[in-house]
Amino acid sequence: MRILVCGGAGYIGSHACAVLAERGHDLLVADNFINSSPRVLGRLRRITGRPVFFQQADLRVRADVDALFEGPHFDAVVHFAALKAVGDSCRRPLAYFENNISGTIHLLQAMQAAGAKRLVFSSSATVYGDPDSVPVREDAALRTTNPYGRTKLVMEQLIGDLCESDPSFRAANLRYFNPVGAHPSGLIGEDPGGVPDNLMPYVSQVAVGRRARLQVFGGDWPTVDGTGVRDYLHVMDLARAHADAIDYLVGEDRSLTVNLGTGRGVSVLELVQAFARASGCAIPYEIVARRAGDVAQVYADPSLAQRLLGWRAELDLDAMCRDAWRWQSTNPDGYGKAAVEQAAVEQAAVEQAAGETALHEWAALAAG
Ligand code: NAD
Ligand code: UFG
Repeated sequence: MRILVCGGAGYIGSHACAVLAERGHDLLVADNFINSSPRVLGRLRRITGRPVFFQQADLRVRADVDALFEGPHFDAVVHFAALKAVGDSCRRPLAYFENNISGTIHLLQAMQAAGAKRLVFSSSATVYGDPDSVPVREDAALRTTNPYGRTKLVMEQLIGDLCESDPSFRAANLRYFNPVGAHPSGLIGEDPGGVPDNLMPYVSQVAVGRRARLQVFGGDWPTVDGTGVRDYLHVMDLARAHADAIDYLVGEDRSLTVNLGTGRGVSVLELVQAFARASGCAIPYEIVARRAGDVAQVYADPSLAQRLLGWRAELDLDAMCRDAWRWQSTNPDGYGKAAVEQAAVEQAAVEQAAGETALHEWAALAAG
């Protein structure tokens, strides 16, 4: 199939590209690198052994989005492109609504105009806020606690309303729990700019010596050891779910909303211990006050995804830590944004030129 991957240069998107390419699909990646590096594209070419078609596009710009649909018809669109940091969204709510909502509207409008009828959407467990009980099922109450979460919920609603209005439009809403880990090659992985907000990248940077110690936010939660409990899932398992969701949209011709997690809760200290085992590095930590807005424990009931998609998480916490460590230890500065900013800018120009060539090739695919 021909698939448009919006936000395909990002953390989860790049891993999904690796899996989708492995399944033989032709991909067009669209991204504006607002939170990613053009270097991802070269790495993806090394992993897949195939050209990665790329077009620079900012989903906030309708003309950029329309241009994506000027070439061959897409059998499916996967929409990863969003701003995603909770704290940042509290400081800059308008930027989040502008980027995430207007980008999604433009994409849906362009899909509608082009007759592209299948969408896989990156939603989040954030739509459950602080759930009444765990494990969380898809029919749990939806109540968000921050601007980022509200954009995710509005995006789900926009997509749901479009499905209602156009009975031939199909969407897969995938509610991710806590994606971690990296591609087993160590060539792509998570590379947050600045101080990581999330646990696993922070722990990885402590292990590699970029940060002195982890601050554990709260040791007095009503959990197994007093630290927060989450449902961490390997990004390669998550990536596979996107390919399965596309197959479902094609084969079953129905929309769906599913949780993607392992169904297993893991505490902060359990993750720290697993990472220390996998890396052979000590992870110094201190317990500090709870983080504002945090909740004690959130983990998924993933049984609906298993029933509908035949998907279940296969990789365990040790594999998540091992692969995160391989990525971090072989790329201590990630894609090197800070150190080689100029090189990255130059690389972007090269990738843009390659993208333009790729687009001609992409158009040739349709013609022939
Ligand atoms: P990411 O920031 O690494 O990837 C997002 C990509 O989208 C980046 O490459 C970014 O440059 C691009 N992008 C953002 N706005 C854009 C725009 N206007 N135009 C073009 N490209 C744009 O994030 P990720 O962790 O890979 O997350 C992907 C998706 O999954 C997001 O929608 C996020 O909300 C969702 N999600 C992530 C997590 C998580 O923990 N990582 C959890 C649940 C849901
Ligand atoms: N934590 C620490 N120290 C840190 C970072 C995190 O102790 O430096 C703790 C948190 O308190 C929490 C756990 O580690 O108990 C996980 O925190 P993350 O920030 O990694 O993950 P969250 O579940 O809090 O949030 C993330 C995203 C949300 C998304 C949610 C579910 O940031 O946007 O996963 O997908 F909604």
